Amino acid sequence: MYSHTAEMKDIELVIPMKSLGYEELDETERLLVDTAREMTSKAYAPYSKFHVGAAILLDNGVIATGANQENVAFPSGTCAERSACFWAGANYPDARFNMIAIAAVGPDGETTEQPTAPCGACRQALLEYEKLAGHHVPILLVGRERILRLPSVQSTLPLAFTEF
Ligand code: THU
Repeated sequence: MYSHTAEMKDIELVIPMKSLGYEELDETERLLVDTAREMTSKAYAPYSKFHVGAAILLDNGVIATGANQENVAFPSGTCAERSACFWAGANYPDARFNMIAIAAVGPDGETTEQPTAPCGACRQALLEYEKLAGHHVPILLVGRERILRLPSVQSTLPLAFTEF
């Protein structure tokens, strides 16, 4: 039984983010955005024709990259973000994440108008590595004209499951 006081409260969650032009990014951010964009060309997406690229800057200077890899048995495919983050974990288990960039090219062959955000499963997977890093890991979401910069993975997944 819960012991509780009958006192309903309104709670609001706010996700702070910035919308930036490419020229407003610093050198490291540009490199990561460029890499995520390039990685869209490595996607294997014959079914959705939606090509996603991800780039993760590690604290050892390596940029871990990924692109979505689809499969005729649809759930067997993997998103760009998870392909990058699991590659990083498998190859550099001691390295920590410093920054993430995500870009996508739609079936029209153009970078998506709106910034592409990671799916729920990828947010949960990336959050694990943010916890390991022990600090906020900013995420850059690339759109055709603007880039959204979120302060952390955690900010993309409010009320995340983190403990059991
Ligand atoms: N996809 C990603 O790679 N990352 C995301 O965050 C969203 C979706 C992929 C999965 C699938 O191959 C295609 O995009 C369409 O959903």
